[in-house]
Amino acid sequence: MEWNGLAAGTIILILKIAVVAVSVLLVLSLGALACGNFRLHGRINLVFFVLTLAALLGLEIVARLLAPDIFAEHFEKHQATNALRVHLSFSLPATGVLLFMPLTGLRHRRRLHVGLGLLFLVLWTGTLVTGVFFLPHENL
Ligand code: HEM
Repeated sequence: MEWNGLAAGTIILILKIAVVAVSVLLVLSLGALACGNFRLHGRINLVFFVLTLAALLGLEIVARLLAPDIFAEHFEKHQATNALRVHLSFSLPATGVLLFMPLTGLRHRRRLHVGLGLLFLVLWTGTLVTGVFFLPHENL
């Protein structure tokens, strides 16, 4: 099943590439942090924040509003509904934590920001690994 000629698997592949690309930004921001450049860490992560939420919003608009059936059918065909559930158990909390990162960083709530940051890193790693390796992007 397709949406505007784009099959579900193709959309998933594009999202995998996007998640890997923004992860490079996240790693760079942690490098800046390790060098003591808090400002650069913040700038890079603001870009990371906007791009990540834009991708999520785009996916949600397609998956829930424009073509609600294509992903359900895709995951059923691949028998991957459980893989999706595992992925969501990381990605949904990761999104929730992400929303608090820019404000706590900009307000210098350092202990809270670093604590949430470490939690976010664990959840993001889970999101990345389960998303890239478990979710099927082939179009059957
Ligand atoms: C393990 C992950 C992270 C750690 C350990 C971390 C750590 C830090 C630290 C130590 C600061 C300086 C705070 C201060 O000046 O008191 C900071 C600032 C900041 N962080 Fe993070 N952070 C992490 C992830 C993130 C993420 C994911 C975002 C946004 C999506 C983010 C956005 C910011 C921003 C906007 C600032 C303010 C920079 C400025 O003052 O110009 N951080 N972070």
